[in-house]
Amino acid sequence: MIFRYKNTLTLLAVLSLAIVILSFGCAKTPEQPPTPPSTPAPTVVQPTTPPSTGTGATKPAGDPAAGEKVFNAQGCNACHVAKGSGGQVGPKLDGIWGSKIKLTNGQEVAVDESYVRESIVSPSAKVVAGYQPIMPTSYASLPAQDLQNLISFTASLTK
Ligand code: HEC
Repeated sequence: MIFRYKNTLTLLAVLSLAIVILSFGCAKTPEQPPTPPSTPAPTVVQPTTPPSTGTGATKPAGDPAAGEKVFNAQGCNACHVAKGSGGQVGPKLDGIWGSKIKLTNGQEVAVDESYVRESIVSPSAKVVAGYQPIMPTSYASLPAQDLQNLISFTASLTK
């Protein structure tokens, strides 16, 4: 009787020890990493100007008459023909809007708002075939409105 009782006690002791070890082991299992905070869905940035069709058909925002004043004040006319007069260091701008021009790398690009903007603020990014990249880079600092008006003026130039 005593023997059996002792046995039961030992069994109980072993069992409870096992439970303690097991629960300790469970407590030690690494916790799940916290779920990262949900990132907000990317906001779509609406273009400020109507998307270009790539054909140059889209007329840009801006005031062509104000753009013509900037054109002359900034000395663009020293190098470019516009409305039939101006220097011939750079390509003639009359009638280029909506056309395709060839670059020195052999590529053809459509003359649209983004091309003309880039041609003014970063002239050597795309160099017109037959010309040297000598247009000043300083126009990148023109006020945004002047730049927009210059683009509008360029778009108004017909052959
Ligand atoms: C010192 C001369 C010079 C001045 C000043 C100058 N440009 Fe140019 N421009 C060039 C030359 C040269 C090119 C052709 C080479 C190139 O693409 O960079 C050119 C290219 C361009 C083109 C691309 C023309 C095409 O047929 O694709 C545009 C648009 C343009 N210039 C606009 C302007 C405007 C607007 C101004 C004034 C804010 C200006 N340029 C001032 C020399 C000049």
